[in-house]
Formats: sequence, C-alpha cells, structure tokens
Amino acid sequence: MKNPIVIALDGTSASGKSTNAKLVAKTLSFVYVDTGAMYRTLAWHCLQKNVDIYDEKAVAAACRKWKTSLKCLEKDKLRAVYLSVDGYFPEKEIRTPETAAAVAHVAAVPKVREWMKRTQRDCIQFGNLVMEGRDIGTNVFPETDYKFYLDAALSERSARRAADGVQENLAARDQRDSQRAVAPLMIALGAKVINNSSMTAEQTSGIILEDLRKRLPAPH
Ligand code: DC
Repeated sequence: MKNPIVIALDGTSASGKSTNAKLVAKTLSFVYVDTGAMYRTLAWHCLQKNVDIYDEKAVAAACRKWKTSLKCLEKDKLRAVYLSVDGYFPEKEIRTPETAAAVAHVAAVPKVREWMKRTQRDCIQFGNLVMEGRDIGTNVFPETDYKFYLDAALSERSARRAADGVQENLAARDQRDSQRAVAPLMIALGAKVINNSSMTAEQTSGIILEDLRKRLPAPH
C-alpha cells in the first residue's frame, strides 16, 4: 500500500479512546493499534522477570533484550495489531491492577519510548491505521493530518473504569502521563479536541467519522 493513512487518537485514561478507535477502525476498515497495550506488555514482562520498574537502566535493558513480534489478526470484524513477547500475547495479564500500577513508570523511560516509537511506526506495514495512545499525534506520527484528542471529566472517567470493574487512581496516572520528561500527554497541534463527558461512544465516533469523511481522500 502506497502512503498508508494514520489516524491518531490520543487522550487521557478512560476518555473512550479504545472504544472509539475500534468503532472508527471498523467503519473505515482500517487496522486498529492499541499502543497502551504495548507499554502494558512491557510492564507485565518486567514484573514477570523481576525487573525493578523503578530502575530506568534495568527497564531499558529489559526492553532492549525482550523477544517480540508484531502480528495483525482479525477478531470480531476488527483487524488489530498485537505485540507478542516470546510468542505470547498477554491479553488478560496486561489489564490487572499490578500491571496498571507499573505501566506509567515503564512508559517514562526514554529508551523505552524510542523502542515503542520505532515499533509503532513499523505497524504501517499492515496498512491504514487507527492508532490510539498518548503521544501518537505529537511524537509517533506527528506528520499525520488526522489527529484527535479525547477527554472527559475525571469523575466521569473514574465512573467508566469502575463500571468496567477496575478501581484505579486515574488522577495519579494522568499526572504521571502529563508530567514525564519525554513525550508527555499533550494536545497535538491541529488536533480536534472532543470532550465526551456527556456523550455516548456512538456520538463521539460520529463526530470523528464526520470530520474524517470531509477530509480523507476517496474512497474512504
Ligand atoms: O491507554 P492505556 O491505559 O492502556 O495506557 C497504559 C499506559 O501507557 C498509560 O499510563 C500511558 C502509557 N502510554 C503512553 O505513555 N504512551 C502511549 N502512546 C500509550 C500509552
């Protein structure tokens, strides 16, 4: 495929990035990439291997050495990219409270972010992408014209996580994501900002799709 299109969907934790990125990817038949899952996979791997997640050098070394592969698989009519480590994708393990608590520390390590950027840019091999994360529009694919930033009130985001059965200190994670030195969570220049506190996922993805339909080259 010549010059695949990348739609960057960034935003705070529990702002609806995954749900909306999947809806948009399905509608446009693009490939979905969850970059948070990649950071979570490294955090899980470090916990498995007893790597001290507070030791930047140890985390960077683990990231340099781990054996990973990228695969594009179709499930429930959605094509998505999966990062496996030693041939295994830890789908459930990366959603545990232990992994959630560790991930922002791992994600703050500069060498990790370099590795992730390279790997995430490699996903273009699979075609047009909807990529969700924190730094896709600012750092991973800054050249894309299609950038969106989702946010919602903290109380609403906490309620969404609780409804999923996850109790998490989102304020602390937002703070760590926004204040890290390398590629912090920021609104990319030119990004369309959507505060979806009182919107359904269909309404949010509707706004995104309406905007894209005006701007994407035919036949999208
Ligand atoms: O979206 P998520 O909750 O699965 O993200 C997990 C963590 O990974 C979150 O604390 C921020 C970090 N992350 C990041 O730093 N950059 C990305 N592009 C995606 C996630």
